[in-house]
Amino acid sequence: MSNSRSTMTPKQREKASVFHSWSAQATIDPLMVTGAQGVYVTDEDGTTYLDFSSQLVNTNVGHQHPAVVQAIQKQAGTLATIAPQHGNESRYQAAEMILDRSFDGAAKVFFTNGGTEAVEHAVRMARLHTGRQKILAAYRSYHGATATSINLTGDPRRWPNDNGTSGVVHFFGPFLYRSVYGASTAQEESERALASLENTILFEGPSAFAAIILETVPGTAGIMVPPEGFLRGVRDICDRYGIVYIADEVMCGFGRTGSWFAYDQHGIKPDLVTFAKGVNSGYVPLGGVILNEELSATFNDRVYPGGLTYSGHPLACAAAVATIQAMDDEGIIENARRIGDEVLRPGLLDLAAKHKVIGDVRGLGVFFALELVTDRETKEPLAPYGSSSPAIGEVLRACRGEGLLIFNNFHRLHVVPPCTISDAEAREGLARLDRALTVADKYYVGH
Ligand SMILES: Cc1ncc(COP(=O)(O)O)c(C=O)c1O
Repeated sequence: MSNSRSTMTPKQREKASVFHSWSAQATIDPLMVTGAQGVYVTDEDGTTYLDFSSQLVNTNVGHQHPAVVQAIQKQAGTLATIAPQHGNESRYQAAEMILDRSFDGAAKVFFTNGGTEAVEHAVRMARLHTGRQKILAAYRSYHGATATSINLTGDPRRWPNDNGTSGVVHFFGPFLYRSVYGASTAQEESERALASLENTILFEGPSAFAAIILETVPGTAGIMVPPEGFLRGVRDICDRYGIVYIADEVMCGFGRTGSWFAYDQHGIKPDLVTFAKGVNSGYVPLGGVILNEELSATFNDRVYPGGLTYSGHPLACAAAVATIQAMDDEGIIENARRIGDEVLRPGLLDLAAKHKVIGDVRGLGVFFALELVTDRETKEPLAPYGSSSPAIGEVLRACRGEGLLIFNNFHRLHVVPPCTISDAEAREGLARLDRALTVADKYYVGH
């Protein structure tokens, strides 16, 4: 066995031994990464790529941020691990810093290893708190890959995992570009989505619902910034029917939209918040649930039936403390907002003026989506819903050829660089994207 390994390339060894996420194993062609710095990633041949994907939209402070790396090293030298029932400085400091930046009335943080566990626990807390079982979630959503989270998820990755008994009821959130409500303004879309949500609740049984879970800005499903008033309407509906409001901020939290949490920009207070990714840029796996006072008090005298060996792992929490501190010290969140307003939005609109294949540009901060379509009138996507296409494959290869890492889902490209990206780097990425998109122009058949 080891003899044959010695004659294999690193990529062959990776493919032979590692089972990869969301893939038919025989078809994968992983980029073999050997290093990364700031917004750049280097492969085994020494080629550098500008990272417009932040990996899986998690390296919010960029790669190898020195203060975060140093905090992990220091923590490893002091106390590398500790059981969850014990206390530890890095854990309570991380919890305090997260609470101080979340919402008025945020009481406690339950730490997990990542986003999907945060979602599992938020739902469990809501069910225990209300004594109800059903959960509302949006069709256009992604909430994670474990049993409850994948059933909450709206996208087609749910289908093979759907056990049909999850208690999840899906509805369509607002999305004007592909409105299912026949709306022509953002306000109409918002009002109709709220009416549909309330009707869904009334017809499913108002006393059946424990929680609604919503990505404040749906990420993987297409970066649809909710219209003004929609989330306040959701909050009102939750209050009317005693439903727990879970804001899933795993992707859109910690600076991505130009504020600590995306809900900050909508004047609402959720009851539970799930987070992961940007909390420590994913340098060590970490996620969690922020509980308001009411949810937290439910478990003051009643045992919470849930836990994890690595809940509040000191290396992950030390990385969170350093990440949050760096975001404050270096104005990283302000940078994300400014880059979105001054460089990415105008730059992407310029690309749309040049490439008709870009049907829509939307987003904020360092969180933008491009819809690639063959016809702006019919909005025919360049790949069908739930799938890819040779055309999209060609665009992605062109991006790679230009030295650009980009996030892709179905027919969409997402421009989601680290929050630390400079103006010059963002402009360089846009120039690479511009060149890559020329291969897509031939697929445009509209006017
Ligand atoms: C909104 C949202 N929730 C949950 C998750 C799941 O997080 P993880 O992959 O860390 O389990 C993701 C991952 O992309 C996400 O975007």
